[in-house]
Order: sequence, then C-alpha cells, then structure tokens
Amino acid sequence: MEIIIVPDAQSGCAYAARMIEKLIVRKPKAVLGLATGSTPIPVYQNLIEKHQKNNLDFSQVTTFNLDEYLGLDPSHPASYRYFMRENLFSKINIPENQIHIPDGLAHDISAHCAEYEADILKAGGIDLQLLGIGGEGHIGFNEPSSSLTSRTRVKTLIPRTREDNKRFFKPNEEVPHHVLTMGIGTIMEARTIVLLAFGAAKAEAIARSLEGPLTARIPASILQMHQNTVVLLDEAAASKLEMIDYYRYVYENKCDWQRVK
Ligand code: PGA
Repeated sequence: MEIIIVPDAQSGCAYAARMIEKLIVRKPKAVLGLATGSTPIPVYQNLIEKHQKNNLDFSQVTTFNLDEYLGLDPSHPASYRYFMRENLFSKINIPENQIHIPDGLAHDISAHCAEYEADILKAGGIDLQLLGIGGEGHIGFNEPSSSLTSRTRVKTLIPRTREDNKRFFKPNEEVPHHVLTMGIGTIMEARTIVLLAFGAAKAEAIARSLEGPLTARIPASILQMHQNTVVLLDEAAASKLEMIDYYRYVYENKCDWQRVK
C-alpha cells in the first residue's frame, strides 16, 4: 500500500483525479470503478473540469459503480444512479450504455448480480477502483463480517451506516435496510485501487484497516493484500496511525518518477 498524507481533502481528491486522467490518456478505453458518498465528489468536480478545460475524453471509458440501494427508484435523489448523473455523468461525454450501476429494482436479483460480474469481466476488468470507507471499515457496502472473497450480492446495512447516510434522505424517509454491492473479491480484482478518507470520523477505521489484523470485522483491512493500492488521507483521517511518521518519510523519499504530478 502507498499511504499518502495530504494537507486536505481537496488536494487528495485532486491527486486521485490526476491518477484517473493519466489512466484515460494512456488507455482511452479505461474501465473505472466509481464510488458515491460525500468523499469522492471533489474528484468528480476535478474530472468535469479536466473534461471542460483540457478536453479529457470519456467517450470510450466504461464505468462500474460499487453499489445501490435495493428498491430505490433511480429517480430518487438518494439513489446512486441519480447521484452519479448529477455529480458526473451528465457533465462529461460518456455514452449511457458504457455506464453500469447495480439496478436496485432488478426483478431477479441474483441473476442481475451475476450479470454485473460478467459485464465487468466482459469489459476487461476494472483498471482503477475509487473507494471511500465507512466508519466501521466497509468498502462498497461490504459491512463488517462480509466474506473477504464475496462477489456482487445483497447486503444488510449496519445501523451506523443507515445513520451516517440519513443526510441524503428527507427527514420523513427511511434509509433502506438493503443494498446491492460489488463484493470484496470483486473489488480486489481491480488493477489499481484508490482509497480516499478525510476527517476524524474515519481515523479509527483507517488505523484498523491499514495497521490492524486482516479481518472480516474491518472489511477494508483486505486492502493489505492488494498489490497496487494508494491510500489518500488528510491529517485528521491519518491521526490514529501508529506509523504516520514512517508513511511521511517514505513519501518524501520517493523517486521523482514514482509521484503522480
Ligand atoms: P462518505 O461515505 O464518503 O459519505 O463518508 C463513504 C462510505 O460509506 O464508503
């Protein structure tokens, strides 16, 4: 894992957007794994700006989102299809048929999940997967106790996640209990993973994921087994890491060509 401590969320997200830009320039048919939640929004703003100002071309890019609420209509403002349209897709030149988001209204859920996995394979696998992290260490919606080799399927949200995500729903609305999510095994097959975490609320989950034992209790701890993961943290999210000075030392002493500029 490459652990990079950045001054703030904006610079972390700008770094992630530069990684995505470089990938698309090198490989116009790149396959991106995308995330929702508050954390990646500035990444998407950066990408929109790169599209508008530098002509970053998404016409051949394919995307797969991590997750979606079960039973939520795509027109619902808290649905992840709606979120992605608002925050990215309607503002770049990606063709609709190259966008994939789990369908929370699918009739046959297990067939849909199997098809989602098959579509990722058909696209050649995910080149770069963007991830946030939940307060209890989830990635995608793989909550604690998720199998570390799981595939796309239905999961039940833990109360903390439902509480954390209340802010996206109206006060009189229930946060759904169930979701569709790429599995941990699915995520781990991405060639590059970029995990973003900002703010003190993520510090405990980050410390346990990066320095604790590998355990289904903290799903993000599986990233210790991934060959090419970049973790971008602000000071607050990094504040509980025991080896924080070492991570800074490693980054400061990198070869120049290893840096993403
Ligand atoms: P957040 O969610 O970006 O809204 O903090 C991250 C997550 O739950 O994975």
